[in-house]
Amino acid sequence: MAVKTKSVYVCTNCGYECAKWNGRCQSCGEWNTFEEVETVVSRSSKAAVKKAASISTKIIGLSAVDITNDEIRYRTGMSELDRVLGGGIVKGSLILLGGEPGIGKSTLLLQICEFLGNDNSILYISGEESTRQIKLRANRLGVKTENLYLLAETDAEAICETIALEKPNIVIIDSIQTMGISGISSAQGSVTQVRECTNMFMRTAKTEEIPMLIVGHVNKDGAIAGPKVMEHIVDAVLYFEGQRNMSYRILRAAKNRFGSTNEIGVFEMVDKGLAEVANPSMMLLSGRPTDVSGCCVACVMEGSRPIMAEVQALVTKSGFSSPRRTATGFDYNRLSLIIAVLEKRLGFAFGSLDVYINIVGGLRLDEPAADLSIALALYSALTDKIVSDKIIAFGEIGLGGELRNVSHVTQRVGEAKRMGFEKCIVPKQSLKGLDLSKYDIEVKGVTSIREAFEMIK
Ligand code: TYD
Ligand code: MG
Repeated sequence: MAVKTKSVYVCTNCGYECAKWNGRCQSCGEWNTFEEVETVVSRSSKAAVKKAASISTKIIGLSAVDITNDEIRYRTGMSELDRVLGGGIVKGSLILLGGEPGIGKSTLLLQICEFLGNDNSILYISGEESTRQIKLRANRLGVKTENLYLLAETDAEAICETIALEKPNIVIIDSIQTMGISGISSAQGSVTQVRECTNMFMRTAKTEEIPMLIVGHVNKDGAIAGPKVMEHIVDAVLYFEGQRNMSYRILRAAKNRFGSTNEIGVFEMVDKGLAEVANPSMMLLSGRPTDVSGCCVACVMEGSRPIMAEVQALVTKSGFSSPRRTATGFDYNRLSLIIAVLEKRLGFAFGSLDVYINIVGGLRLDEPAADLSIALALYSALTDKIVSDKIIAFGEIGLGGELRNVSHVTQRVGEAKRMGFEKCIVPKQSLKGLDLSKYDIEVKGVTSIREAFEMIK
């Protein structure tokens, strides 16, 4: 029995349904609103019944799903990258590595080939550089593996055919903006090309079960179609952040189907490529001034790792009618909120003063736990009182000027001790039920910003 349909007439105004056409709707009274619509009266076609029988055998209990082969993860030999990926590259996954041009995407991918090449064959497809250029770079990075194969090509269809034919273990594509499908008339790097090429690579990655790492350039002014259009297609999105003129690079996962997106990886660009930074706090705190007002050290959690960063504040008399407020590495609105709390609850006046906040080292403090160190830096800059370089502070500031609970206090205090700090100022609430005596460091619980300010006097 095929799918059986019948015609009914439906009022486009109110949805009233009847078997015959009417000039005027009985329900809403409108004239000439009926349209003929086909509806399915019988769904139980034989073909569908047959199909259902074969589909129902495919239904499987969660515990019975066999994943023994799927959880193969290729370690990259860089623990910072593995951590962000959630433990390595998953078989058959599509990973997007985004970042501004020149930040080090090609360098990172070429570097991991050395380790991956020990057990796997890698096909590195570049639409940007010639094979000679890649070889020169590989020489400089010390990549000598025999298992790395290069291809300079931009035709996405030909690339997918080649991958299906050669079946390498891992594929690297640099970059998606240079890839194109000849049947599509729009230029390479346009939204259509980027999206269609990604879809094509996705199908190949899934059917051949070959993981692919794809480079995507991010352009601040949006002149080239950014990786945003690919984000929903791929399995994992990693972004390389950092200023080009600074050597530190932070790798962050914006999406990861196989792991957490909280973890970050820290790298430093040196003359032999990217070096892992195992101790970011040390890096971010190095060269800190000790006897200057306006500085305070913050401790934020990046995934499971506590990371310390120096907050610097500068408060000066404004030359303009509306004072300037700038925040680098910190949310501008959050800064305004903290200033407002300091004005209203503690009576400080920032009205005719310019306020500058800078987080040293290019880190972004997004966690509310950074609030207290921002407030302390502002207080120190305003009153010229120096916050001792042995003090670290963290806590979220409420609109009433109170300090609110933050998580992971033990990890943060432990990190403070490890980095040689002597005193932690933390919200009193967060200390409930914690025994921090083993860290052998002075921990002061405070309930309000006012109390915290008194601590540094
Ligand atoms: P690259 O990986 O080419 O950037 P992307 O692929 O993201 O566009 O990185 C290039 C930058 O890295 C370049 O400005 C020079 C610097 N660099 C080093 O400092 N040391 C090195 O060993 C290499 C290979 C690059
Ligand atoms: Mg590149």
